[in-house]
Amino acid sequence: MRGIKIIGAGMYVPEKEADNDWFSTILDTNDEWIYSRTGIRARRISVDKPNFYMAGEAAKAAVADSGIDPAEIDLVLAATCSPDFYYPALSCLVQHETGAVNAAAFDINSACTGFINALDTASRFLEDSDYRNILVVASERLAPHCDYTDRTASILFGDGAGAAVVTRSDKPMWSYLSAKGDYFNALYCKIDHSRSNCPLIAGKDALPEGIIDTEAKSHFLQMNGKAVYKFAVEAMETAVNKVLAKAGLGIDDIDLYIPHQANSRIIESAVKGLGLPVDKVYVNLERRGNTSSACIPTCLAELKQAGRIKDGMTICLVGFGAGLTSGAVVFNQ
Ligand code: COA
Repeated sequence: MRGIKIIGAGMYVPEKEADNDWFSTILDTNDEWIYSRTGIRARRISVDKPNFYMAGEAAKAAVADSGIDPAEIDLVLAATCSPDFYYPALSCLVQHETGAVNAAAFDINSACTGFINALDTASRFLEDSDYRNILVVASERLAPHCDYTDRTASILFGDGAGAAVVTRSDKPMWSYLSAKGDYFNALYCKIDHSRSNCPLIAGKDALPEGIIDTEAKSHFLQMNGKAVYKFAVEAMETAVNKVLAKAGLGIDDIDLYIPHQANSRIIESAVKGLGLPVDKVYVNLERRGNTSSACIPTCLAELKQAGRIKDGMTICLVGFGAGLTSGAVVFNQ
């Protein structure tokens, strides 16, 4: 039987807080609009720390919390859509930062659904006796992706990292993962090849057909907010219903729901549609914003620090993001 137990959790948030009032000094916006449409009052921005530094700090905190020696980690999985390098993988830098010298390492990119996909992958590796302890990190530095002249998208995102050390459990786990690549252009950030000095391609940067941006800003995050909103509510409801059906569990059998923290209105709509008990749903986006794949492990770390992740609990994580991807996992801690 496939199962995981979280034996350590950690997080890192950058020092610099950018609140809604700061946005109103650079854009035609205000706290009232942003808070009422998103539930966000502030987000952290990594001014001078690379993604791998944040990932490393969160990972070290998770390993310390677990009490294991870094040398006992068999695999580092890093979820990110905003790495510092095309290669090496972020997970290799995290291995270096943590001293997980005996670990294999690779990355997973499914944008905001990254931690869910990574945790699911970890549980499958743990079925193999070669893997006992897996470090799962999700870390994002989205500020350089955002267009700070775009008031619709830039106000949503923040930077940060979360991590968990997981080990095999004889209690069950279920997952449901999905992708709808037909909607790839609802939310994307394109790699900028325009600075290539290959004489054959210099100055050119072919854009796939159907892309909605303008060439001048093609390297910034582009989002069709309404399309993503609609997808998000439906995807969360579908993912929770599918994973509970697989598990043979009802809504009330779950002790704690941790949704992706994109927008409080999206969470509220899904909570209402599913009929979830509000007091079982954890939300921390008011002062964090959407940190993409890092949202869920950051919630886990906060809850674990507060002593709210208890043995025997049944926990449901549910997320969605660019791709468009979505998914949910349910596990007995
Ligand atoms: N401040 C003030 N006005 C703003 C604004 C801001 N920050 N952003 C947009 N507006 C304006 C628009 O220009 C528009 O004005 P207009 O009517 O004069 O044209 C008006 O507000 C309504 O814009 P709209 O885009 O329809 O707003 P919305 O209610 O759909 O909210 C989002 C926009 C982005 C908050 C919402 O669509 C959303 O949350 N989508 C999901 C995005 C998401 O979660 N992405 C990450 C997924 S992992």
